[in-house]
Amino acid sequence: MYQTLLTSLEEQIFIITINRPDKLNAINNMVMSELSAVIDEVYHNAEIRSAIITGAGPKAFVAGADISEFEGLTIEEGKKLAQKGQDVFQKIEDCPKPVVAAVNGFALGGGHELAMACHFRIASENAKFGQPEVNLGLIPGYGGTQRLVQLIGKGCAIEMMITGNMIDANTALQLNLVNYVVPQNELLNRAKSILAIANSKAPLAISKCIEAANAVFNETKNGYQVEMTGFGECFATEDMKEGTAAFLEKRKAVFKGK
Ligand code: COA
Repeated sequence: MYQTLLTSLEEQIFIITINRPDKLNAINNMVMSELSAVIDEVYHNAEIRSAIITGAGPKAFVAGADISEFEGLTIEEGKKLAQKGQDVFQKIEDCPKPVVAAVNGFALGGGHELAMACHFRIASENAKFGQPEVNLGLIPGYGGTQRLVQLIGKGCAIEMMITGNMIDANTALQLNLVNYVVPQNELLNRAKSILAIANSKAPLAISKCIEAANAVFNETKNGYQVEMTGFGECFATEDMKEGTAAFLEKRKAVFKGK
């Protein structure tokens, strides 16, 4: 179905693999369009409860936007490229189902921005993170200037952006950029085991947790208000009735996402 992505559904976890290993999974126009389409699939396919994004091969998650497509772009075309990337990555961040980046190698430029748009990140020991755009006379354009500051703080973010230096997985862990560092052969299983726990919980409550956490960084929203509204709305769900009844009846809850 996709030319640049591989997908598989395992126990309601949708695994999306960016599949251009000979170009270190660089994001060209086709990859960006297909990422947009695949995230729509995550939103709308009821069999999918959560997703993992990773890269093909042992070397790279995604080594950035495809530099070969930059040549000759005008100011307007450059802005449009950033707009498209920002829109797709925003859709990932706003996804009501958890999306985890399993960073299996280089996560540079647009690849780092893609990982940061996911709800959290797990890294393999060989992972490397960076925003090397200044080496090209560019800046991050797919939300990286904003999300990097949000995730690791302004000082460390500006240092990464103005030097273009890469950081290794353990440094990323210290900076809270990733939640775990694991051997490469355990990476997908670690992501799956965390999502298996999330998948056993109430889906609507999960989506409201994500929405409220995202509101922290959205100036147009009052996060406390989003939380209050979401909390209230939970009382109208079958899952809330099931969850509380199951607790009182000392049995395991069965959630339906209703
Ligand atoms: N865009 C387009 N092609 C890319 C790419 C990118 N962002 N990153 C890697 N590739 C391609 C290389 O051109 C090369 O293709 P080729 O075999 O046809 O020449 C292939 O992927 C392998 O990369 P190579 O550079 O040979 O691997 P390496 O192990 O020597 O170096 C990196 C790995 C990641 C350090 C290096 O590829 C790199 O610096 N990539 C660009 C990173 C970047 O600036 N990203 C931000 C873009 S805005």
